[in-house]
Amino acid sequence: MYRDGARKSIWQDEIKKISTENDLSQWFDTVIVGGGITGVSTALKLQESGQKCMILEAANIGFGTTGGTTAHLNTFFDTTFAQAIQDFGLENAKLYAESGKDAIHIIESNIKKYDINCDFARRSAYLFALDEDQEKQLKDIVTGAARVGHEMVYVNEIPFPIPFREAVRIPGQGQFHPIKYIKALCEAFIQLGGAIEEKCICEDHEEHDDHVILTTSKGEIKAKNVVYATHIPPGINLLHFTNAPYRSYAMAFTLKDNGFSRELGYDLHEPYHYYRIHDINGESLLIAGGEDHKTGHSDDTGECFSRLESYVREHFDVETTYYSWSSQYYEPIDGFPYIGNLPGTKKRIFVATGFRGNGMIFGTLSSQIIHDLIVAGTSKYEQLFSPSRIKPIAGFSDFVKENTAVAFDYVKDKIFVERIDSLSEIKPGEAKVFRYESDNYALYKELNGTFHLLRSTCPHASCEVRWNGAELSWDCPCHGSRFNVNGKRLTGPTTKNLDKIFPFQKK
Ligand code: FES
Repeated sequence: MYRDGARKSIWQDEIKKISTENDLSQWFDTVIVGGGITGVSTALKLQESGQKCMILEAANIGFGTTGGTTAHLNTFFDTTFAQAIQDFGLENAKLYAESGKDAIHIIESNIKKYDINCDFARRSAYLFALDEDQEKQLKDIVTGAARVGHEMVYVNEIPFPIPFREAVRIPGQGQFHPIKYIKALCEAFIQLGGAIEEKCICEDHEEHDDHVILTTSKGEIKAKNVVYATHIPPGINLLHFTNAPYRSYAMAFTLKDNGFSRELGYDLHEPYHYYRIHDINGESLLIAGGEDHKTGHSDDTGECFSRLESYVREHFDVETTYYSWSSQYYEPIDGFPYIGNLPGTKKRIFVATGFRGNGMIFGTLSSQIIHDLIVAGTSKYEQLFSPSRIKPIAGFSDFVKENTAVAFDYVKDKIFVERIDSLSEIKPGEAKVFRYESDNYALYKELNGTFHLLRSTCPHASCEVRWNGAELSWDCPCHGSRFNVNGKRLTGPTTKNLDKIFPFQKK
């Protein structure tokens, strides 16, 4: 299978083509746009309840974040219970605490029902503080967890060779192989009559009282309901102002010591590191993640891997780096995911996004919420995760500014100081964004000397893209659209490519 970058993730060997033969002129009950864990789980759930569904995937199943996750299954989240109590109140925070348990239960019951071999295992998580500030943070986390009834127990030892000041053990967590899991869900979905159309970009929708017409790269498709499981939907929507794209980095190493703990580990750095073991092709690999940053806001994404590798080698007895890859997720403005009706639409278009670093959990939970909203008209999480909620929390206007004007200016200031006097200034493997006369350009020089020249203005809402050297992609800092060196769209919300001027070879 392919992914949305130049690097290969640890999961990637698992799926080949999975499309079905489809008649796109027939009517569907629900079309689900996006073939990651959110889309596939939701499609299966709806198909199970008798609906006729189709998954539309722009590339291939698992192409996006599901193919690049580190696949921790947690019932505690990036937004802590303490923060949730402060911003949403105790009762809502309790419901939020239930959501993780519900999601893991859904995964377990799918595994049981369809007899899925996806390396699922229950684990304990260890969360630990390395300095005085982190100790206070940990205390806060534990106090919040106690108030919502979530078990976290102080311990004197952790099963990782890291000097710590205080630590807690959190039982009942889990891990799995995300691509084996969604591949099996796809097979179950197809068995039940579901349709999967790969390499089909959904460009727009038109909502009517009793149906929706999707405009796609393969023509119009009609359905009673549409679910955008693509992080952020195409077009411009409230969600583009309430979610920010982030990049996250992961690496997998062979270990010198086979007796390494199989529990899950998390420090409290900002951004935090996390790690676990997974057996791939008979070998135990340590998967470590971290070094997150806002998309398009790192001058050298390769350094994120270097920092992560240094951290791992400082603490763990590892040998070879087998895999290194990155992926994208979205930070919601108020810390809770957005799952439900797409703002500004009537009742037939649904969305699920803003999962922070808990995509496997909230992607899975989305399947239950969206199923319940479509089939029963209501969900116990409807209000809590409503995409239309506007929480007037501190920092709202800063967040919006950061996602629009600030992101735009940041990039503009960075790139327009660049002056390309001659193409020979660009070294092989380098890329630059520059202005020439009144237009802005993105230029990449391959190691063999071939230049790729594109217009650098993102077709979604006209921000300027930035180079991601680690994944050989042009990334838009505003809403996270990404393109390869030829300008081809890798991820939305844009539905279009960057304008290509030419590739050429200069001696
Ligand atoms: Fe919105 Fe680029 S993704 S402007």
